[in-house]
Parts: sequence; C-alpha cells; structure tokens
Amino acid sequence: MKPRITMIGTGYVGLVSGTCFAEMGMDVTCVDIDAEKIRKLTEENIIPIYEPGLDELVARNQKAGRLHFTTDLSTCVPNSDAVFIAVGTPQDEDGSADMQYVLQAAEDIAKNLSGYTVIVNKSTVPVGTGQRVEDRIKSVNPQAEFDVCSNPEFLREGAAIGDFMKPDRIVVGCPNEKSAQVMKAIYKPQTDEGYSLLITNRESSELIKYAANAFLATKITFINEIANLCEKVGADVMSVSEGIGLDTRIGSKFLQPGPGYGGSCFPKDTNALAFQGQEFDAPQTIVEKTIEANENIKKRLAEKVAQALGGSIQGKKVAVLGLAFKADTDDMRDAPALTILPELEKLGATLVAYDPEAHEQAQWRMPNLALASSKEEALEGADIAVILTEWQEFKTMDVQAVAEQTSSKTIVDLRNLFNPADMADLGVQYISIGR
Ligand SMILES: NC(=O)c1ccc[n+]([C@@H]2O[C@H](COP(=O)([O-])OP(=O)(O)OC[C@H]3O[C@@H](n4cnc5c(N)ncnc54)[C@H](O)[C@@H]3O)[C@@H](O)[C@H]2O)c1
Repeated sequence: MKPRITMIGTGYVGLVSGTCFAEMGMDVTCVDIDAEKIRKLTEENIIPIYEPGLDELVARNQKAGRLHFTTDLSTCVPNSDAVFIAVGTPQDEDGSADMQYVLQAAEDIAKNLSGYTVIVNKSTVPVGTGQRVEDRIKSVNPQAEFDVCSNPEFLREGAAIGDFMKPDRIVVGCPNEKSAQVMKAIYKPQTDEGYSLLITNRESSELIKYAANAFLATKITFINEIANLCEKVGADVMSVSEGIGLDTRIGSKFLQPGPGYGGSCFPKDTNALAFQGQEFDAPQTIVEKTIEANENIKKRLAEKVAQALGGSIQGKKVAVLGLAFKADTDDMRDAPALTILPELEKLGATLVAYDPEAHEQAQWRMPNLALASSKEEALEGADIAVILTEWQEFKTMDVQAVAEQTSSKTIVDLRNLFNPADMADLGVQYISIGR
C-alpha cells in the first residue's frame, strides 16, 4: 500500500513536494490557510508561483485523482499515514527562525489525528524543532499515536521538480524504527531508482539542512570577496574560479560571482544558524562573517554602478534588468535587488526595472519602483543598464543594441553573463564583476 500523504503549506516547497509525491503514485492532499490560493488551484488550475513544468504536473495529477487541495485539514489528516509540515519559517526580528507557523500547523494537525501517523517537518527548522512539535502535539492531544520525523528539503527554485524527483540525497531524521519504515515507504520510488536515502536522528537531520545552506552561502561569498580582490590586482575571477573549482576537493559549483546571495533560504538560514550557535555557546564565526560580508558586497555594488558613470549617478536613469533573486523564479524574498536598488536611489539615481516574472512581487515589495513591460521599455531614456538576474532573455539579448540605447553606452553586468573581450570588440562599455 502506498502511503497517503497530507502536505500542510502549499507554497514553493509544499506544492512541488506534494505534486511530485502524487506523480510517484501516492494519494496527496495539499492544505493551505490561503483560501484564494486553494480556490485558484482547484477551480481554475492556476498555480500560485512561477516554477518551470509545475503547472502541467499539477494538472496531470489532479486529473488522475491523486492530487487534491483543501483549506480543511480535517478532511485528510485523519486518513493520512504521513502529514508533512511545509509552512514558512521566516526570519524573526532577532535573527532566529520564526516558528509560529510550524507550531500552529502542529496544533491544527494534533486536533485531527486518528490512528498512528508520522508527522514530518519539511520546513527548514532549528535543531530541537522535532521535539517542540512533538511536545506541542502531545499537549493538544495526549491520546494521539504519532511520531515526528525531520525531512529537510533541498530543492532549488527554478529547478524544483528535477531536484525533488532526482535528488542528490534524501535526508530523514527519525526517532525510531517504526517511523523510519513509513519514511522508507514514502521514498521507495526514489530509492528503487538508486537515489540515496540517509536516515539519521532528528537533530542531525535538522542541522544538515542549515549546515548545507550555510556552506553554500559561504562558498558564494568566498568567491565574491575574491572577485573584489581580483578587481584591485588585475586578476580575472572567472579564471580563478575555474582554477580552484577544477580541484575535486573544492568543486566548481557555487563559485560563480554575483550580486551577493539572496532568496528565500540562504539569508534567513545563515542567520538562524548563527543565532543557534550563539544560543548554545558554539559560535558559528565563519557563518557570522559570511552574513556580514554578503551585506557589504551588495552595498558595494551600488557604488560600482556609480563608478561606471564616473563616480556620480545623481539624476541619472538606471535601467535595471532583473529583480528575482535568481533566474527561473518569481521569488524576490531577500533578493539582492532589495538592497542594491535602494542604495542606488540613495545615490540619487532614478530607476526603471524589468523582470520577466517578478513584477507581481516587486509591486508590493517596492511599491515606488517604476516597472517596464519589456527590457526595451526599461531602456528608453536610460543612462546606464544594470543586469541583476541571469535570465535567459538577458543572456541572449543583443548587448550592443542594449548598450547603444543608453546615453553612456554602458552595461554593468552583476552576473558576468558576457565575455569582456567580445564586449570590447563590439565597442560596448562593459563592467562586470572581478575582471
Ligand atoms: N523555497 C525554497 O526554495 C525552499 C527550499 C528548501 C526548503 N525551504 C523551506 O521550506 C519551508 C517553506 O518554504 P516555502 O518557500 O515553500 O514557503 P511559502 O511561503 O512559499 O509557503 C508556505 C505556505 O504555507 C502556508 N501556511 C502557513 N501556515 C499554515 C497553516 N497553519 N496551515 C496551512 N498552510 C499554512 C502559507 O499560506 C503558504 O502558502 C521554509 O521553511 C523554507 O525555508 C524552502
């Protein structure tokens, strides 16, 4: 018998995970407190996020009767073998992870449990959350028969379906063999295909997620700082990156310089890990320095744009190409744009931005930002163009034509999409990172 699954939280992680479990043949119900989100999914087949391939997968599994959506968890939790918690864990004011949504979900689940059920924390949570969720459920429903497991999610937005279906590894933290058996059954389709399942204790599993994200954030920040040094000493960061990445102990991934890390995970997860290090008197000094360095990198980049126009952008119009924190997503949570653009405004620039997918998010995150419906429109009357996100549309654009449209004929490329020698041949004033 395939496990029946409830997914609490139908956001980037919950919707992708739930849909992929359905695709693997399981019966899945995704729950959300956002009634409008659920209405759109059920009645109009509109998915709430931009994620390549997800709309077809949702439609196919809904049609096949394996994927359901509801706001009412009493309709599915009692019949589920496993209930996943995939709600947000945003950063609290003190830097720690805000656990209110996870604990609320735990309470909601507790009231509806019937028969042995495995509760699975898929949200990224501090070490000890498994125990907190267990305690909360016991306090609400002392009779409940359940175990709490940890199962952090490693999918990347923009490549989420592939990452979920073909993961580098699946990590599960279980308190006992009984719950481990349920988790093994859920991931059997993947382990049958040879994907690795690491079963460990709950605390290790919880820490694996934070440690992985902090390591990746550190790697990105490391190359960004090296890029800064490259600019001062005449080295080319792309060669340095290649030269160190070819060492198999280091590896080439996450050594691409850019405008600082951002997004829905790295900033809040590095902060939460640093917070927990302090809390347990085990300071994570490398992570603390990474956070500080990343902030400095973003701030420095506004100055770099000003330098491109001779030191002042007072009264200049900047065409901003890209707002999402990376390509292939509409997500702007903690995007570098949210730091760099206000810095540019402080320096006196007027901004007009274009992003292929992120305008809806930009409208409420930066209500005063002028948005253009195309890059051509953003470039009208611009003095300079700044590439912030590595969208395919920007990678393949006619750079010469773009530069020609700006009064300074200058492009500042914060993603190093083009070759400086090619740009020089085209007569484009091209400024990139670390070379
Ligand atoms: N986005 C990513 O790329 C990613 C990757 C790996 C892990 N994570 C982690 O996964 C978790 C979820 O992230 P996300 O990006 O999917 O968040 P999200 O904000 O996109 O989605 C969370 C959803 O949970 C819903 N929700 C909140 N409380 C609820 C409740 N009590 N009952 C039902 N629904 C509820 C919200 O309405 C929202 O739709 C976070 O801990 C995040 O750190 C995210």
